[in-house]
Amino acid sequence: MARITASVYTSHIPAIGAALDLGKTQEAYWQPVFKGYEYSKSWMKDNQPDVIFLVYNDHATAFDLDFIPTFAIGTADAYAPADEGWGPRPVPVVQGHPVLSAHIAQSVIQQDFDLTIVNKMPVDHGLTVPLSLMCGQPPASSFHWPCPVIPFAVNVVQYPVPSGQRCFALGQAIRRAIESFDEDLNVHIWGTGGMSHQLQGPRAGLINKAFDNAFLDQLIADPAAAARIPHIDYVREAGSEGIELVMWLIARGAMADVAGGAAPRVAHRFYHVPASNTAVGHFILENT
Ligand code: DHB
Ligand code: FE
Repeated sequence: MARITASVYTSHIPAIGAALDLGKTQEAYWQPVFKGYEYSKSWMKDNQPDVIFLVYNDHATAFDLDFIPTFAIGTADAYAPADEGWGPRPVPVVQGHPVLSAHIAQSVIQQDFDLTIVNKMPVDHGLTVPLSLMCGQPPASSFHWPCPVIPFAVNVVQYPVPSGQRCFALGQAIRRAIESFDEDLNVHIWGTGGMSHQLQGPRAGLINKAFDNAFLDQLIADPAAAARIPHIDYVREAGSEGIELVMWLIARGAMADVAGGAAPRVAHRFYHVPASNTAVGHFILENT
């Protein structure tokens, strides 16, 4: 049987990808950001998953205003890093797990969540920056990501966005789907995006440390309460792009305690301001 052993939560800032790709990680501005992921990279090596189920958002890269799926599961063999205007990031092609993807799609759709199935999708910074932060930067062209990845894209770019409650319930359905897969697989589920930031309009540059830290506390200790935060509160308190945080509820909903199991162990927690226009938030939970 496949099982979810851990969940990872992290911001996905594109300038972090650029800092990595251009060799700027030791610069004074970036050093504290990357320091927050040193432990995470060694944790990844010690807790190597067979598959990562990676919840992220596409930024009008694979999907534009012509076509806006609320929830889209990647079912492809592989996903190419997207060209977001400066050429694709120099990182490996992401290998998929089409058999597990197809199983999750059928199970989650039969649990009444209407997923869009995507057989071809370039993946933008929303997916590749978390992978770089957790797995390190390719030392050579022979570098591969450590395991297959199932991309799961959530619309948080164009209103209306899904509610926290919907995301939290979806995480629970994804857990049931993964645990009904026959093969023995160690699966991680990642929730990415956030934390507080607003990229445009009169409030551009907004950061709310108090909201961010309260959200981290609540998502860890009382995720059902965090799921009740209405979408407008994210926008009001954490800025228009702070709504990316609803994706973290999908990963949190898939943890064992939500299904009546033991509380997870917090393996690592990190918060830093600023990085580009956002606050960086990150933590790792292990099922015990
Ligand atoms: C920035 C942050 C994001 O989440 C994003 O998708 C694009 C830009 C930023 O901080 O500049
Ligand atoms: Fe973003």
